[in-house]
Amino acid sequence: MEVLQTRQQLKTWRSKVHGSVGFVPTMGALHEGHLALVRQSLNENPWTLISIFVNPRQFGPTEDYHRYPRNLEADLRLLENLGASAVFAPPVEEIYSPEDEIHISLTRMSRLWCGNYRRGHFDGVALVLAKFFHLVHPTRAYFGEKDFQQVRLVEKMVEELFFPIQIVRVPTVRESDGLAMSSRNTYLSPRGRAQAIALYKTLQYIQTLIPTHLNVEELLREGRSYLTERFPEVQLEYLAIVDEYSLELIEHLHQSAHPRALIAAHVEGVRLIDNMPLRVGD
Ligand code: PAF
Repeated sequence: MEVLQTRQQLKTWRSKVHGSVGFVPTMGALHEGHLALVRQSLNENPWTLISIFVNPRQFGPTEDYHRYPRNLEADLRLLENLGASAVFAPPVEEIYSPEDEIHISLTRMSRLWCGNYRRGHFDGVALVLAKFFHLVHPTRAYFGEKDFQQVRLVEKMVEELFFPIQIVRVPTVRESDGLAMSSRNTYLSPRGRAQAIALYKTLQYIQTLIPTHLNVEELLREGRSYLTERFPEVQLEYLAIVDEYSLELIEHLHQSAHPRALIAAHVEGVRLIDNMPLRVGD
């Protein structure tokens, strides 16, 4: 496995490989969720490149950029064992310069849900991915559905900026009790970890109500009461049921062919997100 740190090294590696290239962008602190993306890419492409880069542009001034878990050596060992072809782990100066003028500004979809609480976050994600897509020229890029809004925005960006890249969605990988895997789970104490299951449990609870409730406002009201009664230490940020394509809130489940519940909450000050496609009978 080659470890590349500069754009020039990446360019040289890219010019040597032929056939499809799968790209898995990450911020490191790898867990099973990331490894599922890498495994899928390895199955579908002769070459798989993983980027490890904690992107400063997608963190707000009060967010955890400096504290974000970094463990390059352990990450490289995991990727080497899986059989990855190459890792791109550049220093910040290789990607950004203080003289940079270009900023990507997304509109409607990026201001909904997480974007409403993390101003500028998705613009930063789009900027780094646009740079990486140009440098890597992947055939396919792999994203976890845990960050569902991110996946939809990346799909939009690729479509609108004509990147010839197939975006592959990979289902969320969960711990045995259902908690969605996330690098931020490592911030939680054992007590917080026990409360963090609230997000998944609330989504599941909403699903169980669907045979008798199709009105979204009612479902959300029930979901919120379930969460506050059973998990009093969890601060809900938002709970929504949206059309999976537009990410807009719906009023009735039959209004969308693909309704999805989205949730964000804070546990011990750690921001966690999750989502679930909702199954609706006839
Ligand atoms: O999902 C992430 O880890 C990041 O947002 C990504 C896609 C690697 C861009 O920095």
